[in-house]
Amino acid sequence: MVDPGHFERHAAVYAGARPPYPDALWDELLRAGYLTPGRRVLELGAGTGLATGPLLAAGLGVTAVEPGPRLAERLRAAHPAATVVVARAEDVDHGEDTYDLAVAATSVHWLDLDVVLPAVHRALRPGGAFLVWRNVFGDRAVRTPFRARVEEVVARRTRPARPGPDAEDAAATVAALKRSGLFRADPVRTFRWSVDLDEDQVRRLFTTFSDWTPDEVEAVARAVRDLGGVVTEHYLSWLVALHPVRHGGIGRGRASFSQA
Ligand SMILES: C[S@@+](CC[C@H](N)C(=O)[O-])C[C@H]1O[C@@H](n2cnc3c(N)ncnc32)[C@H](O)[C@@H]1O
Repeated sequence: MVDPGHFERHAAVYAGARPPYPDALWDELLRAGYLTPGRRVLELGAGTGLATGPLLAAGLGVTAVEPGPRLAERLRAAHPAATVVVARAEDVDHGEDTYDLAVAATSVHWLDLDVVLPAVHRALRPGGAFLVWRNVFGDRAVRTPFRARVEEVVARRTRPARPGPDAEDAAATVAALKRSGLFRADPVRTFRWSVDLDEDQVRRLFTTFSDWTPDEVEAVARAVRDLGGVVTEHYLSWLVALHPVRHGGIGRGRASFSQA
């Protein structure tokens, strides 16, 4: 079963195992005017700082909320300029008109949106935006022998599929984010990219995935070996900018989905 403590248990490998977000995503945020130096950002579920680093490098002031103490320790060490709050996003008072931006980088699916969305809405200044993006590790549009082996491993699972929208299903996540009526959403942007990984990199990366068992990780590491020692993985990242709706609609419907 997936649980949010998974990342904390793998804090030591997380930063080195997960690839950085693609340059095209950062270029888009820059082009759209979100990365203006001096802006204050609330980052939810910052992990070891894969998004925190580029946000700081762009000149933004980052308050990073991360519930895992070991992850937070690594985040602080790697990014001393960030203000790190060790807590669940649901348990922090983010204030009112405090931030120009909120960010959830591959973390929105861990949040209780019924609690977090009203808090983010309140915390954003007029003109602010909630930027939500997610890496999808495995672009279904690109078939590869390695992906076929990954699918074989997944097909053998007998445990129930994890709840919540599929990672690649940005539309379902955006629908959940809009359901409260607190935010309107820009069109989703998608970025496709690839990375070459050797056996050890695959082992470390898949270890960080919350729904993979150690035996399954070894099976895909073996697949890399069988396929010549290096595989090209095709990924996609999607990004959506949400803008607070200031009049009407507040509090309508339920917005949560459970962890995925
Ligand atoms: C897949 S990781 C993404 C980390 C980081 N944003 C990145 O891009 O690498 C998801 C993160 O969300 C954190 N998380 C889980 N539940 C959370 C919650 N309720 N509030 C805030 N963060 C949470 C986890 O501890 C983990 O660091």
